[in-house]
Amino acid sequence: MSPSAEALFIGTATTDSYVDALGLVFSQFEPPQAAEYSRIFDQAIRDGKLPLEGVIEARQGDRLIGAVVCQVQPGRTAVVWPPRVVADAPPGTSGRLLNEVVQRLSGKEVRLASALLTKRDAKDEEVFTASGFAHLTDLLYLVSTAEDFPFSRPSAPLDFEPYRLEIHCRLASIVEATYVGSLDCPQLDGVRDVNDVLAGYRDTGEFSPERWLVVGHEGRDVGCLLLADHPQEDTWELVYMGLIASARGRGWGKWLVRHAQWLTRQAGRSRLVVAVDSTNTPAVELYGANGFRGWDQRRVYARVFPEPRPLGPGAARSPATCDL
Ligand SMILES: CC(C)(COP(=O)(O)OP(=O)(O)OC[C@H]1O[C@@H](n2cnc3c(N)ncnc32)[C@H](O)[C@@H]1OP(=O)(O)O)[C@@H](O)C(=O)NCCC(=O)NCCS
Repeated sequence: MSPSAEALFIGTATTDSYVDALGLVFSQFEPPQAAEYSRIFDQAIRDGKLPLEGVIEARQGDRLIGAVVCQVQPGRTAVVWPPRVVADAPPGTSGRLLNEVVQRLSGKEVRLASALLTKRDAKDEEVFTASGFAHLTDLLYLVSTAEDFPFSRPSAPLDFEPYRLEIHCRLASIVEATYVGSLDCPQLDGVRDVNDVLAGYRDTGEFSPERWLVVGHEGRDVGCLLLADHPQEDTWELVYMGLIASARGRGWGKWLVRHAQWLTRQAGRSRLVVAVDSTNTPAVELYGANGFRGWDQRRVYARVFPEPRPLGPGAARSPATCDL
């Protein structure tokens, strides 16, 4: 039997095969970036942080034909790295790999799976659409560097209160309130419970309570500013910020951004990055006016999985519970 006529086997990579599978998945990037991703994921597997079942491969006999990587993350989300196949792979191999991912995720508590596609990935869009994903939005990746950071604490008319366990409910409530009328991925509003959303934010970079801030004005909570450290990249990330609807349009967003830049300088980091929904014009303009420049962009494809126990209408709007 010729290799191309052999049956296609789709399954979890083995301890012997996963390195090649990772190499194939990340071959979509420039060689230095591909090597870095392969190194990071190899380490994650060795450390037990990424279970081997997150690396799925397609094989014909001994030959690796295709692979896909899926990371289940805190906050009931999963990130799918688009399937990659060899040049002479049987038609439909990518789709079969992705369907395998979907089937596996359906059996877990995952609520939202997403994939970030580059412009080069036109074919991926078809494959993801066929597997029940839909184009959610485009994300702009912005960066501001040290020359934009204030040297002294910005004289904002706002207070910034660091996170502590006792104010978790207040933070959860204020985060939810900032989603009302928001232009930041509004399609996801109510898809996940706020505590899942916070778990996802917390899993971004390195969390510290000093970097999660409740924003107040004259004793009233008006917003939040959530930052994370990425020490390896000498970078802080603005994971999320928001103002409640009644606090918008007063120029306060600028104070949140300036405060974030000042804290980044205080921490001795060189860069502050943020990912923003390209359709969120007030936010995009705000970042641009404060020194942020674009460095990359991605198309987000997402699939929402049914809630095993429906939250019910308005449940995501109900006062936040204190599950941690
Ligand atoms: C993005 C945000 C922080 C901007 O802060 P801000 O202090 O309102 O910004 P500005 O005061 O400079 O307002 C900019 C303009 O956008 C308008 N605007 C702000 N948010 C808006 C919204 N969600 N929908 C429609 N218009 C909005 C303001 O009314 C203002 O209009 P004006 O110039 O005609 O007065 C704030 O809109 C917000 O918290 N939005 C929800 C969460 C969000 O999008 N976060 C960004 C995550 S990356």
